[in-house]
Amino acid sequence: MLTLGFIGTGNMGSALAAAAAKQRDNRLLLANRSRAKAEALCGKIGGEVTDNCGAAQADYVFLGVKPQMLPDVTPELREVLARQNRAAVVVSMAAVTSIARLKELLGADVPVIRIMPNTPVAVGEGLILYACSGEVTEEAQQRFLEAMSAAGRFVWIEERLIDAAACISGCGPAFVDLFIEAMADGGVACGLPRALALELAAATVSGSAKLMLENGKHPAQLKDEVCSPGGTTIQGVRALEKGGFRSAAMEAVIAAFNK
Ligand SMILES: NC(=O)c1ccc[n+]([C@@H]2O[C@H](COP(=O)([O-])OP(=O)(O)OC[C@H]3O[C@@H](n4cnc5c(N)ncnc54)[C@H](OP(=O)(O)O)[C@@H]3O)[C@@H](O)[C@H]2O)c1
Repeated sequence: MLTLGFIGTGNMGSALAAAAAKQRDNRLLLANRSRAKAEALCGKIGGEVTDNCGAAQADYVFLGVKPQMLPDVTPELREVLARQNRAAVVVSMAAVTSIARLKELLGADVPVIRIMPNTPVAVGEGLILYACSGEVTEEAQQRFLEAMSAAGRFVWIEERLIDAAACISGCGPAFVDLFIEAMADGGVACGLPRALALELAAATVSGSAKLMLENGKHPAQLKDEVCSPGGTTIQGVRALEKGGFRSAAMEAVIAAFNK
């Protein structure tokens, strides 16, 4: 059995804890500044409510506070980790906070896994980028991946690429939501009820993405397979190209990265 401690059970911390709770072998320790939030989560997913030091006794200690709050949490955490005679792994989800910075806050020899999850974690379809410090053993990494597998797809990445990658996986849900909403608007303009149009647009995006991931075909090939000569789909593709769709999607990722 693995013990997973969550310090900060806000939006992302609670989504990851809920995914961890699906694995029977995981024991959860939940801590949050406002205890009521951790208690409410505990009521839904199980586990035990504790304080930050209690959660830091876990095998994997998840930091779910905002990046600017890390210096509030890490001094007491550093002490607890230093007292332990086994190496707990700290898992940080904090945006733009490097492994080097985390080790500065937590201690040079602390094993750190830096993750960058996205919002579909909440439904078990997340994309979780991760990078490990040199202290994280292969075994510790494997146990972490197994314990969290219900959160979605884990993709190892060199830490230097994590910010660029997060501009697709982290910001992408908002870009895709815009596309879904716009397609549904088109459907409404053609007479479809709003709820139906949204369902069709969302399920089409989800299914198309799954098809590409499962059969490994290039998206251009999949697009070509839908566009029959002289047909309707190619007219829609023409309209998207005329509206600068591809350029807009590229610029969205680059604008997020530049920010
Ligand atoms: N949301 C996302 O889509 C997303 C995606 C990728 C990464 N992240 C990262 O995930 C982290 C959390 O983001 P979020 O969106 O989940 O924020 P959030 O909803 O504001 O959650 C932060 C939680 O931390 C708690 N907290 C603050 N100070 C604390 C302390 N000293 N001890 C214990 N708990 C404390 C807060 O408690 P209170 O209830 O008392 O305020 C709150 O519940 C951030 O580092 C962010 O960069 C988020």
